[in-house]
Amino acid sequence: RNFNNVVTSSGSMIVVSNRLPFVLKRLEDGRLIRKASAGGLVTAVAPVVINGNGLWVGWPGIHLEDPNEPIPESEPGDITPTAGLKSDKVIAVHVDPDVFDSYYNGCCNGTFWPLFHSMPDRATFKLTDWKDYVTVNKEFAECTLTALRSLKKTKDTPQHEVPLIWVHDYQLMLAASWIRQNAEEEEIPCKLGFFLHIPFPPWDIFRLLPWGDEILQGMLNCDMVGFHITDYCLNFVDCCQRYLGCRVDRKNLLVEQGGRSVRVRPLPIGIPFERFVELAEKAPKVFSGEHKIVLGVDRLDYTKGLVHRLLAFEKLLQDHPEHRGQVSMMQVAVPSRTDVKEYQELKETLEQLIGRINGKFTTPNWSPIRYIYGQVSQDELAGYYRDAFVGMVTPLRDGMNLVAKEFVACQIDSPPGVLIVSPFAGAGETMHEALICNPYEIAGAAEVIHRALTMPEDERILRMNYLRRREKVNDVNFWTKSFLSAMGSLFKPEDHDDVG
Ligand code: ADP
Ligand code: G6P
Repeated sequence: RNFNNVVTSSGSMIVVSNRLPFVLKRLEDGRLIRKASAGGLVTAVAPVVINGNGLWVGWPGIHLEDPNEPIPESEPGDITPTAGLKSDKVIAVHVDPDVFDSYYNGCCNGTFWPLFHSMPDRATFKLTDWKDYVTVNKEFAECTLTALRSLKKTKDTPQHEVPLIWVHDYQLMLAASWIRQNAEEEEIPCKLGFFLHIPFPPWDIFRLLPWGDEILQGMLNCDMVGFHITDYCLNFVDCCQRYLGCRVDRKNLLVEQGGRSVRVRPLPIGIPFERFVELAEKAPKVFSGEHKIVLGVDRLDYTKGLVHRLLAFEKLLQDHPEHRGQVSMMQVAVPSRTDVKEYQELKETLEQLIGRINGKFTTPNWSPIRYIYGQVSQDELAGYYRDAFVGMVTPLRDGMNLVAKEFVACQIDSPPGVLIVSPFAGAGETMHEALICNPYEIAGAAEVIHRALTMPEDERILRMNYLRRREKVNDVNFWTKSFLSAMGSLFKPEDHDDVG
């Protein structure tokens, strides 16, 4: 098993993301401790930073009165993927809490998140939020430049030692502008890469953004911009051409900007496949086996299609009464962005809907829906994935969706279960052997669940074998390697150009 054997960058690496791989928590005795952050970004990037001895610039999750208060090391016995990240490799970005609130809750999650998921009716466009987005991006850029200066590289640094700065996601689409400008002025060499973990919307949606030109220019200050799938790359190239008037090459995915040629690349993210297999092998049995389980695991987010999924399950019980008493839906929802109104409302709606469906169908021995509102540890989650009969991943829109990949990795028992995915997730583009389900069509979705529950064993085996094989090869190491290769920064020169 080689999941620790990750590829590394040839030069030093600085990762910049809104979230650090941990959040800080203050204990009653005043001591600070680390708690693992949730999310695919952290699991994917942490081993690269740790093994490559890189630096990580990000927000520590709480406001510290004294920004010079030392970041604690991880607790003894911590086995999360970020335990190896030493505190002197972390640059915590400190922002005034009010400014951070309008940047994070207002602009990132009130404007960009819904708009980039093609849900413009949910988006707000407030100039004050945007101004704080600019301020916070500048602050992240400043901290990144401090990290870059500490590496003491000069214009004579050999090409293979030039530091790589890897900026992540929609919270930091402007940061590269100031990083590039200052690094050039100070003659510090660096390569700049960006990866967007969410969809990039089509021009018709993107043009609703009053600050679209700044966003595109910010991203184009990188040498390479990565997205999960080709559609998002083409949307980005299209917007650069129509919004900024850039010369573009759609075939080779290039955008001309300021005398530079910016590479745009589809780099579908993967998961630490072997790690999930091991967790699934070790996890104790979760369900009694009395009922078949249809499993959903999501952050509690309106893009995940949770309401549609529950309605589809209700329709299944109505149209196929033979499943009553035999099948339960288990929905695990992790609290997310709880200060944003849309998320608070969704929580209420879900609770009411679950109450209504359970009230309608529950018998003394069986309830149709089991609901957990909370974070579940990765080892526990692996047991859920392994023991579920159907994995239901039906977002209304999703950049990739790692849950679909984690589910197939953990399906180690034979005969295996069935994966259902939405065509509106990046995962729906690549996981061809899953059952494809349009979440908006409730009756159709109910039929897809019925088909999954009644699928013959040999078909389940065949589909799952293909799905697992693909995710095993295209795992998170492969993603990192593809990114470094596209940046020309892969450690082994002979590996260049073989992927990406
Ligand atoms: P997103 O990035 O939008 O949250 P993904 O499906 O790509 O969606 O990634 C979600 C990550 O968070 C996965 O790695 C998944 O294991 C984890 N996760 C989701 N829900 C929970 C939960 N209830 N408890 C613990 N981890 C969760
Ligand atoms: C998605 C985003 C990440 C984000 C994560 C959790 O995966 O792409 O950038 O970190 O959700 O959201 P949060 O707002 O808690 O960081």
